[in-house]
Amino acid sequence: MRKLYITRKLPEEVLTKLSASFSIRMWDKEDQPVPRHTLEKEVEDIDGLLCLLTDNIDSHLISKSKKLKIISNMAVGYNNIDMEAANERNIMVTNTPGVLTETTADLTFALLMATARRLVESSNYLRDGNWKTWSLMMLTGQDIFGATLGIIGLGNIGEAVARRAQGFSMKTLYYNRSRKYDVEKELNIIYTDLETLLKESDFVCVMTPYTKETEHLIGKEQLGLMKESAILINTARGGIVDEQALYEALKSKKIWGAGLDVIEKEPIDLNHSLLTLPNVILLPHIGSASVKTRTAMADIAVTNLINGLTGEGTIHLVK
Ligand code: DGY
Repeated sequence: MRKLYITRKLPEEVLTKLSASFSIRMWDKEDQPVPRHTLEKEVEDIDGLLCLLTDNIDSHLISKSKKLKIISNMAVGYNNIDMEAANERNIMVTNTPGVLTETTADLTFALLMATARRLVESSNYLRDGNWKTWSLMMLTGQDIFGATLGIIGLGNIGEAVARRAQGFSMKTLYYNRSRKYDVEKELNIIYTDLETLLKESDFVCVMTPYTKETEHLIGKEQLGLMKESAILINTARGGIVDEQALYEALKSKKIWGAGLDVIEKEPIDLNHSLLTLPNVILLPHIGSASVKTRTAMADIAVTNLINGLTGEGTIHLVK
């Protein structure tokens, strides 16, 4: 029987699909990642690996595994996998696109609105007993309706965010590696260079994949181009934004606020400088976290694994 290793506890109904044809070992803790030394040992004799974005599947780990044929990542992003090392060994790498698009766009828009209207701060203000009276400028935020939205990276999730922006009559700009003329027409959005987008947007949403090219794409210089009233939203990957530069821009009120679902090193260190600022909302990477979507992601990751190893049916291969 072919052997599989799964790096986090999966729902029973998803697992039963695998157990008929494969011998499975699994890290069975829901809230802790598999320790590196355990993972290194576990991959030695397996044919297939089902992993999460928290698992660093680097060349060293891949070299430990002699028979590995497929790495099924339970995420759409796959920056945690050394693709060069996988390609060299002809190991298939799969992801879970499609199912999480709308859920992640929902969260992106929710975070944008929560940051603009200071929802977390307002709730804490009330709970802390600071609400003595209604006053004119108390907890005032930024308007969303009719504002300009800049989307960096117009993939599926970027497009889904642009669609939501239509309901708020937003002017939407986008910056992407390639122009998408048909989407421009369909969603009434405007292609710009990055500099123009940063200068003109009230909300800048980072939605691009994390690669060597996009690492610290948003740094001191880029934040310096943004409006003082602007808000940065990142629901993609933390490494795309230079956090030290962001901290300084927020602290000195160079920009107005930030909403982050992702940070460079997850989980966050509770001494992180960003946690000292009131004008940033930080979330624990919950973009795709709806029951339906997370279940669907697990299901697709398992299907990729089965189909990749049996050679039957389709899989979501990443290039
Ligand atoms: C992904 O799939 O890449 C997301 O970040 C997980 O929600």
